[in-house]
Amino acid sequence: MAIQFIVNGKPQSVDVPPNMPLLWVLRDTLGMTGTKFGCGMALCGACTVHIDGEATRSCVTPVSSVAGKKITTIEGLSPDRSHPVQRAWIEVDVPQCGYCQSGQIMSAASLLAQNPKPSDSEIDAAMKGNICRCGTYQRIREAVHRAAELHKASAMPSRLDGAEDALDELAAKVGGAV
Ligand code: FES
Ligand code: FES
Repeated sequence: MAIQFIVNGKPQSVDVPPNMPLLWVLRDTLGMTGTKFGCGMALCGACTVHIDGEATRSCVTPVSSVAGKKITTIEGLSPDRSHPVQRAWIEVDVPQCGYCQSGQIMSAASLLAQNPKPSDSEIDAAMKGNICRCGTYQRIREAVHRAAELHKASAMPSRLDGAEDALDELAAKVGGAV
């Protein structure tokens, strides 16, 4: 029987065994290989995706359990790598081999959605389930702080926006002569 859910904003319907791990469905059935297989036992975090906004290990998530839910993978975090976490990761040059990084980024994005300004210890607690065999942990922590700054800056109204509003108001008063 077909199982239906949303992946990165797009409805999907898959006819697979209900206990098939979501990770296999994403990679093998839907051809989305950004989410990685590491351990298959919820121990490494390489397979992390968001299910209804929660960071979840897709390797131990039966596809039947996500029927009707919204899934976000690394491919759908932003259309153009503009998510603050992606921008910070590029700026800080976090990845080494890169294998663990889509899982790291999805965990970091979930953390910042719940806690926009995490402390070092909150970052360490949230990211401890994501293992990096290259040992990029220091740069991950730095990039999460940087992503928090970028997110805050993008949420603040621009001073230029205010100036444009003032000019519009002035133009209205003087009949559009500004
Ligand atoms: S592959 Fe899922 S946690 Fe390791
Ligand atoms: S960057 Fe190589 S495993 Fe993390």
